[in-house]
Amino acid sequence: MQSLQEKAAEWSGVAQEDAFAIDETNLYLKLGHQTFVDLSTEFYNRVFADDQTWFQSIFANSRKEDAIQNQYEFFIQRMGGPPLYSQRKGHPALIGRHRPFPVTREAAERWLQHMEKALDSVSKIDSDSKTRMFNFFRHTAFFLVAGNEMTNQQQTGGDNVQRK
Ligand code: HEM
Repeated sequence: MQSLQEKAAEWSGVAQEDAFAIDETNLYLKLGHQTFVDLSTEFYNRVFADDQTWFQSIFANSRKEDAIQNQYEFFIQRMGGPPLYSQRKGHPALIGRHRPFPVTREAAERWLQHMEKALDSVSKIDSDSKTRMFNFFRHTAFFLVAGNEMTNQQQTGGDNVQRK
């Protein structure tokens, strides 16, 4: 059986070593705190203004300010900065925290479209940093899709789950 990481690599087209090239350089020190705040603000401004309601409605129960903070604190912690996210909320456990949401392949592609535009709109993000970050995002997005499919299978009593 393929692991979630293997599925993520295959479905995203991003090899694991490229996805984790964010760990070869400290992007937090390179880009600075405010750059991550700006990136998440640009991203969620686009998400909350999306005219494709099927996507926008996935975020209907979130406050934009909270979503922005959740995201930049996670990015900062994952990319070499202080563990702001875990100090406030505990382990990121991304698959579990996305369980309420329909994280399909289509949703992943839409998420990535907004993120690519957000990366382009923040001028402090140079092209090498952008490539590293985008590969990490793309791989992680499809890791979440794989996690979502696994969770759904378990919930519907798929393959290995016995229901009584
Ligand atoms: C694949 C498509 C994705 C969808 C549809 C999706 C959807 C969502 C939604 C609806 C939320 C709740 C917003 C909030 O209140 O914080 C959320 C939170 C979050 N997402 Fe995603 N997401 C996706 C991909 C990603 C990716 C690729 C990452 C990381 C690289 C990520 C990291 C996070 C984090 C850190 C949170 C905050 C979790 C929390 O504290 O509860 N998401 N996401």
